[in-house]
Amino acid sequence: MKILIINGSPKGKRSNTYKLTNAFINGISEKTEVEYEEVIVKDKNISTCIGCFGCWNKTPGVCVIKDDMKEVLDKILWADIVIWSFGLYYFNVPGRMKMLIDRQLPLALPFMVSESESGGHPMRFDMSGKRHVIISTCGFYTAKGNYGSVNAMFDHFLGKNRYETIYCGQGELFRVDALHNRTDEYLSYVKQAGEEFITSGISSDTREHLDELLFPRETFETMADASWGVSKETGEQEDETYIFTKQMASMYNKSSYKGKDIVLEMDYTDKEKAYQIILKKDGYEVRKESFITPTTKVITPFTVWKDIAAGKITGSGAMMKKLYRVEGDFDVMLNWGKYFGSGSTKQKSDKDTSDKKTKGTSLILTLIPWITFWVAAAIDSYVGGFVSIGVCALMGLIFFRFRKTIYDVLSCTAVIVFSIMAILLPEMIRLILPGSYLAFGFMWSLSCLTKIPLTAWYSMNNYSGESALENPLFVRTNRILTLAWGILYVITSVWTFFLMGTPISPYLAIINNVMPILMGIFTKWFQNWYPAHYASK
Ligand SMILES: Cc1cc2nc3c(=O)[nH]c(=O)nc-3n(C[C@H](O)[C@H](O)[C@H](O)COP(=O)(O)O)c2cc1C
Repeated sequence: MKILIINGSPKGKRSNTYKLTNAFINGISEKTEVEYEEVIVKDKNISTCIGCFGCWNKTPGVCVIKDDMKEVLDKILWADIVIWSFGLYYFNVPGRMKMLIDRQLPLALPFMVSESESGGHPMRFDMSGKRHVIISTCGFYTAKGNYGSVNAMFDHFLGKNRYETIYCGQGELFRVDALHNRTDEYLSYVKQAGEEFITSGISSDTREHLDELLFPRETFETMADASWGVSKETGEQEDETYIFTKQMASMYNKSSYKGKDIVLEMDYTDKEKAYQIILKKDGYEVRKESFITPTTKVITPFTVWKDIAAGKITGSGAMMKKLYRVEGDFDVMLNWGKYFGSGSTKQKSDKDTSDKKTKGTSLILTLIPWITFWVAAAIDSYVGGFVSIGVCALMGLIFFRFRKTIYDVLSCTAVIVFSIMAILLPEMIRLILPGSYLAFGFMWSLSCLTKIPLTAWYSMNNYSGESALENPLFVRTNRILTLAWGILYVITSVWTFFLMGTPISPYLAIINNVMPILMGIFTKWFQNWYPAHYASK
């Protein structure tokens, strides 16, 4: 497939739109072999049409001006697909691109055709098989309503409905590193559009994503205003730390409000600047002075923030490297993504509907077979064994609605094995029961040797899902907790072994259930305390 990109942005390869165009071509090349040529209009010597009609009468098909336009016309004739890529300028194409468009006259014949209501000219060459795509970004919050004159022009010279379009508002955001989560997501849909364009046509699902705003209007407009670095009120130049703080604040997601204002203080140690962002029910406020008691204080060099924003390092990665310090309530740090959402609107596409993305894991379900066995087999090893096997069989059905982990499978398998032993060898229950505690303890402890410890697979549901597993502090916290639980159950197996058959035996069930409850309370506390303690250093 031969593709020609006509990049009409005066910024050339630094164009915002060019990012979309590249994503689109990447999509096409996923599906077919691509050969492509590029015309960067700003780098070409293309003069304005002088209106002599020489290309129609004196030298048919050849322009009298000798510049780079000859090469462009040859490339247009060569291409199977022409992509017109540009940022919207005064509701139309940038001036130099318009000059290029005018200079296409040699491709047309002078004679009048009556097909079009407003008149027109037939083409000198067979252009009927060529496909055209217009890709453009614009600066306003939406593309809707801004492309009337672009469409009108292309309708006339390419033909109505004879070209595909991708128009995107908030185009300047494609150059803001800190927003790459959302812009990359958008680019992934543009790539998808490229794949579909070359196969079956852009689907309505993808079109819907392409038509979505990058950010809600209000967020975008405050972010855009902040980005100019000039005070809206006084017109004065603003400090980069202030611009950054205001931009971050503009990402505040009001729906994360938990009934109490949060005062987030940002101390940029290398710049000796500090600001407070007050997260309120109905919005936020950024303060340069008149500080109030902060809920959370983040103390770090500004350069670290810039690296985090640019995706060069993750926030949690920076913390593990002790690049910043947090004082006060750690909740806002743990739930940063909820407070300052990327604006991601990602919905479940066909590719995302796998168990992994849609179903959560459940620790309770992992524990149910074990608890059933420990209680039921302790009362009656024979009946308890059957009950436990029945519960394990039921788990198969329940897991239909949840995401299974390896530990769920291991748990059911182990409980079935212990249950069979309890049924066949009831006289051995004094060994089987402690053995089951030991197996449970080992499962937890040994999982600490793997990359992701057991509890992390479950507590990730309370954070950002699977992406929490990439957070080293989250994994570290869970490794400690998993080991603590593992050790508790190994010890439980020992005291169960020694206490069974003693006068304390009737109280064993109580002891063995109270301990995990206390451990559960500890877990809840530790999950918040440890990251905060770590960060405060
Ligand atoms: C001179 C000029 C005129 C512009 N006119 C419009 C406009 O009419 N509507 C709009 O939404 N954005 C307008 N913009 C913003 C650009 O369309 C926007 O920045 C776009 O992302 C630039 O794309 P590019 O980097 O690919 O050139 C204009 C920008 C400039 C510099």
